[in-house]
Amino acid sequence: MDGDFDRNAMLAALAWQVELGAVDTIGDAPVDRFEVKPEPKAKPAAAAAPHAPVVVPEVDTVAEARAAAKEAGSLEALAAAQEAFPHCELKRGARNFVFADGRPEARVMVIGEGPGAEEDAQGKPFVGRSGQLLDKMFAAIGLARDAADAGAALYITNVVPWRPPQNRDPDSEELAMMRPFVERHIELAAPELIVLMGNPACGALLGKRGITRLRGNWHEVGGVPAMPMFHPSFLLRRPEMKRHAWADLLTVKARLEGLG
Ligand code: URA
Repeated sequence: MDGDFDRNAMLAALAWQVELGAVDTIGDAPVDRFEVKPEPKAKPAAAAAPHAPVVVPEVDTVAEARAAAKEAGSLEALAAAQEAFPHCELKRGARNFVFADGRPEARVMVIGEGPGAEEDAQGKPFVGRSGQLLDKMFAAIGLARDAADAGAALYITNVVPWRPPQNRDPDSEELAMMRPFVERHIELAAPELIVLMGNPACGALLGKRGITRLRGNWHEVGGVPAMPMFHPSFLLRRPEMKRHAWADLLTVKARLEGLG
């Protein structure tokens, strides 16, 4: 019995760590961080030479992102420029850069929040549980990311291409830095319609949050009609809200058929 208890407790502790985002082991032996003595801090250069303070030039990260994105003349060039962009802290903690999936020629471009654990591992957006629900939702209106016919295809991306630690929401600075890349992504893919999944996508591209009020109505992103919808991960937690998502999908379908 004791053995069972230990095993269950250990599995629960492991699940808890995975939930917090600790999906990799990086050493063979455990390290008790409470026992580790902090390394002595390096003396700041200014203290060594008080009359010659070190001036760290301020980087306007949003302006740099805008310039890098503008220069990209194709989706491949944009992916390369975004992946090489050095100022977003999220990059440091992620395993993979997650750019897009599906067909760039699709009529509908879906924009989510950012990669989760599964997306980070595979380097593709929406491949975990919420991605499976997303696929089912769009299949119900005849759209699929891998459809042979571009008219029935989807193109899928996120407002941030690196997984935020512990699956937290991307913060406003990260969203502002990545926004020029997403806007250029939309220009280059040139979809007929955009679907914005959840609040971070709406915040980044509409400058508004409050998905409960925003969903169900057409907005505009860079001149393209955009429909905010409840994020599939929210729908997994609140299945009773799926009827609203279904209504929004029908609105998208009607617009594609020239009826909405
Ligand atoms: N949630 C998102 O918003 N995007 C993904 O790619 C996966 C989960």
